[in-house]
Amino acid sequence: MIKPHGSDTLNSLLVTDNQLLQQLLTEAESLPSIVLNSAAAANAVMMGAGYFNPLTGYMNLADSLNVAENLHTEDGLFWPVPVVNLVKDTSAIEGASRIALRDPNTEGNPVMAIMDLAAIETVSDAQIETMAEQIFATLDPQHPGVATFTSLGNQLLSGNIQVLSLSYFQADFPDTFRTAGEIRDEIAERGWQKVVAFQTRNPMHRAHEELCHMAMERLGADGVVVHMLLGKLKQGDIPASVRDDCIRKMVELYFPANSVMVTGYGFDMLYAGPREAVLHAVFRQNMGCTHLIVGRDHAGVGDYYGAFDAQTIFADKVPAGALEIEIFNADHTAFSKKLGRVVMMNEAEDHTKDDFILLSGTKVRQMLGDGIAPPPEFSRPEVAKILMDYYQLENA
Ligand code: ADX
Repeated sequence: MIKPHGSDTLNSLLVTDNQLLQQLLTEAESLPSIVLNSAAAANAVMMGAGYFNPLTGYMNLADSLNVAENLHTEDGLFWPVPVVNLVKDTSAIEGASRIALRDPNTEGNPVMAIMDLAAIETVSDAQIETMAEQIFATLDPQHPGVATFTSLGNQLLSGNIQVLSLSYFQADFPDTFRTAGEIRDEIAERGWQKVVAFQTRNPMHRAHEELCHMAMERLGADGVVVHMLLGKLKQGDIPASVRDDCIRKMVELYFPANSVMVTGYGFDMLYAGPREAVLHAVFRQNMGCTHLIVGRDHAGVGDYYGAFDAQTIFADKVPAGALEIEIFNADHTAFSKKLGRVVMMNEAEDHTKDDFILLSGTKVRQMLGDGIAPPPEFSRPEVAKILMDYYQLENA
């Protein structure tokens, strides 16, 4: 099986030994603690679940700046986005070397990790902005990722962590949330060799579905792992449970049995376009996939990125050999009225724009909000029904 990123075996920071877990939970109650922000909690979940292998904790300032600027830590590990724990106020942990990190997304803020605090460094506003600009390629405060990153705080807590819980993801999505190790195990059990990962934060429409079929066929893959984001999204995006239902229905009806694993991971969307695509590749390698589909405007938002910047970054910024996973680049995919099927637009001869059914995400959300089903060329009717039901409840 494909090796994890940066190490021979997968290093998950989740404490699984029950006796040790109880001991650490007891210790945590006597430690000074802070409530994490959601971004830092998401980082803890990803480290705990093995997706951020081989990281052992939150990055310090030198590593964060280097990763933002050069996509490498100080000691040469390839990494595309700083994995940080930025806070506003450190008064509760003054002088401590071991602290408890509390979950902001679960009622009562239970402890989710213990951290050996190596350093607390003050990050200047200029350094925050430098990093934000490198990660997101913009400093526009309207960009949801920039808005989040620049409001986390200026105190950077770095050091190794032991993760005691994966937040609410296992309880809320028992059939869908998986750790990287669990996905590796399932791939091994199924005997899949060539495995395509599909990143998504949407209910899967026909373009998404066809991307998976095309990648399977063209690569001669054994299977697809649909890996949906279960963490936070921006306002107006569709909740994970609804997306999960849509995806499961589509897989059940439109894919051969046993060719797709429907899974998810607990991370907040960054909307960092190209940089996030590279992070996606890192953690899909960690979960044992040999290929990642990257299509149009991958992990993008608004007009901040060129439609295929998330593909070109792999040639421009990822050094040869830095990753083992390969990228399946896809052109804009849409339903051709002439051909009566979903195609990659650059492969459809003698077509003009009018020959395709093109609907933006915003337009589709608007239609659903108005109680209008998206056309069957865009969404499978069974998927459209789930979405219509959700929007009807929302508007009730
Ligand atoms: S993303 O933020 O997770 O990338 P989304 O779930 O919409 O958003 O997309 C999942 C994957 O499908 C990404 O690789 C994206 O580039 C690709 N994709 C979505 N729609 C299209 C399309 N119409 N044509 C080509 N690729 C697409």
